[in-house]
Amino acid sequence: MSILDHNLVPENLDSFWMPFTSHRQFKNNPRFIVAADGMYYEDSNGHQVLDGAAGLWCVNAGHRRETINKAISDQLSRLDFAHNFNTGHPLAFHYAERLVRHFPDPLNHVFFTNSGSESVDTALKIAIAYQKLKGHGAKQRLIGREKAYHGMGFGGLSVSGLVKNRSPFGNLLPAGHLRHTLDIKRNAFSPGLPPHGAQLAEDLVRLVALYGADTIAAVIVEPISGAGGVIMPPNGYLQRLREICDQHSILLIFDEVVTAFGRLGAMTAAERFGVTPDIITTAKGITNATVPMGGVFVSDEIYETFMSTPDAGPELSHGYTYSGHPLACAAGMATLSIYEDEGLLTRAQGLQDHWVSSALGLRDHRHVIDVRAFALIGAIELAPNPDEPMRRGAALSAACYERGLWARNIGDALVLSPPLIVTEAQITEIFDVIADALEVVD
Ligand SMILES: Cc1ncc(COP(=O)(O)O)c(C=O)c1O
Repeated sequence: MSILDHNLVPENLDSFWMPFTSHRQFKNNPRFIVAADGMYYEDSNGHQVLDGAAGLWCVNAGHRRETINKAISDQLSRLDFAHNFNTGHPLAFHYAERLVRHFPDPLNHVFFTNSGSESVDTALKIAIAYQKLKGHGAKQRLIGREKAYHGMGFGGLSVSGLVKNRSPFGNLLPAGHLRHTLDIKRNAFSPGLPPHGAQLAEDLVRLVALYGADTIAAVIVEPISGAGGVIMPPNGYLQRLREICDQHSILLIFDEVVTAFGRLGAMTAAERFGVTPDIITTAKGITNATVPMGGVFVSDEIYETFMSTPDAGPELSHGYTYSGHPLACAAGMATLSIYEDEGLLTRAQGLQDHWVSSALGLRDHRHVIDVRAFALIGAIELAPNPDEPMRRGAALSAACYERGLWARNIGDALVLSPPLIVTEAQITEIFDVIADALEVVD
């Protein structure tokens, strides 16, 4: 029996506890994806949909890339697994060396994880441990932001700002939260980055006054928030956060799990926006989502501080069985080659004008109260139905699916992040489908 025989539609829907799923809704109308190729998914009814989400912001090079598949299977036939605890396998070192060359100086060192959540928790732990090594043991508080998503580990959740995700899980870690930067009233339909709101970075000054700089280890932000509904940084906002962090010896972490690997037309948002943080967290596009992997990129200063501790044991007592897994490294290497050879890391810059103008073409359609678009990421925000918020967003997503476009709704916003191989014609198609689908949303 081949593993492919298990791709038949299942009858038992109770054994698998699905992530972030309303099981009762799923069971009413289960949707199964059975195949993918390039820009498209196919479901168990044979219905093809254009993947407007790059999976879950992760299949940046498009689906089922032959060279990645081959790299994984070649590696599998040579070395299936070796850990990296006080021993190593060469590929992890070669891959790390190649990878860091793409990240902004001085972020020249990478700690491998298996997911975005692990990357975030690793980064937060590194920040606290770094401050302690510098003699600032009281600097333990972590600052996040309202509407932020940083994965579902306890660390990431503590700095996240999505109330529904946080509320079931108790006290979490001591944290503080900046105000979010979504200001539809003043910034609706801004082409590219919103003009208003840079002064929201001053909220960090308020938190410094409230808690004391001597208690704050790090600030973490998504340069563009994805799961919060695609929220852009106002012009000048990230620069100002950097300045305030420098003034108070607070580390700045960019969570680039969504924005790295070409989503914004550069390897990182840090590069695209010209602001260099102390730590960058990544995952998703790092392997084109073929094998779970994440990477935490840290500055020379942070790395050297750990490497010069007098202790003879591990400089950082932290790691995962699968940190630098050979299959993930093989997938990552092949993915990086595709990104380099096909110019995918910068491709979104060339498509940005068409992306933004096509998205803004929806501004006069009914229910649409905002369009946010930059590089190859975007959101179409609908006025919530007063009786049932989220209903319109879900209806729009369903209507798009019927018309051949897969795009997720986050609340009443339809969020978009197609694979970076998307063509101009496909971009036009995406927004034509949404325009048509909006006609049937009450
Ligand atoms: C900004 C950000 N950080 C962290 C994560 C968590 O990543 P994972 O689901 O791989 O743990 C996500 C996931 O979407 C994310 O968008």
